[in-house]
Amino acid sequence: MFGSRRARQTAATLVAGAAAAATALLASPTASAAPQPIVGGTTTTTAAYPFVMQITDASGSQFCGGTLVAANKVVTAAHCMAGESAGNVRVVGGRTDLNGTDGTVAKVSRIWVNPDYTDATNGHDVAVLTLATSMPYKPVSYVSSSQTDVYAAGATARILGWGTTSENGSSSNQLRTATVPLVSDSSCKSSYGSDFVQSDMVCAGYSSGGVDTCQGDSGGPLLIGGVLAGITSWGEGCAEAGYPGVYTRLTTFSALVTAQVNS
Ligand code: ARG
Repeated sequence: MFGSRRARQTAATLVAGAAAAATALLASPTASAAPQPIVGGTTTTTAAYPFVMQITDASGSQFCGGTLVAANKVVTAAHCMAGESAGNVRVVGGRTDLNGTDGTVAKVSRIWVNPDYTDATNGHDVAVLTLATSMPYKPVSYVSSSQTDVYAAGATARILGWGTTSENGSSSNQLRTATVPLVSDSSCKSSYGSDFVQSDMVCAGYSSGGVDTCQGDSGGPLLIGGVLAGITSWGEGCAEAGYPGVYTRLTTFSALVTAQVNS
């Protein structure tokens, strides 16, 4: 098959939680490629993107990203929250560097995981965290369910995160960003076969690879026109030619997210 083995390994690593994921990363074979930025991006700051949140464990280790969509609501990936309990999760805003102490740390009072979620490659990969205390940062708006035209093939999307800067590489201390073109559903289907669930996923990346989200970026934003339109979800390796990144198609889940934002 096209490499579902590695794709599924990725998903399994991630559901195992932060500690296990960190161990798996340390145990990974050494990457031969030189480390590149998110993969293939540039450094940026939370001052430039104040709605980008780190999701950490109780000891402050970042394991996923998230997006502030209301003062006390953060959108992330369901696969980031599988097996997590609210008491063990923190959200950190306004902290550009993973080893910083600046910004705002919030405890989580409630985790909503899409009840249909089973595995990232089956879709439904969305979760909403309710924070115990509000973030003093400006939230970003997210797509409504009717805005399905934002996913036009070739449109430019922005990705952000602290994830690894190469496949099997190490995480970036500083927030990174890159832009990637959206890929048509038919093209993504030819990359990923039945693991690509068109109703729930959208793909982005160059056909030649080189720029992508990677491990640790999950849950973070895919922005189109400055609006949250996707959630980093999965992919075959990272930045590989012919295998774009796969993002949660947020229009499909917009009403569910809104119900959580208003609850
Ligand atoms: N599942 C990964 C995470 O939890 C994200 C992988 C994204 N992969 C990709 N090739 N775009 O951090």
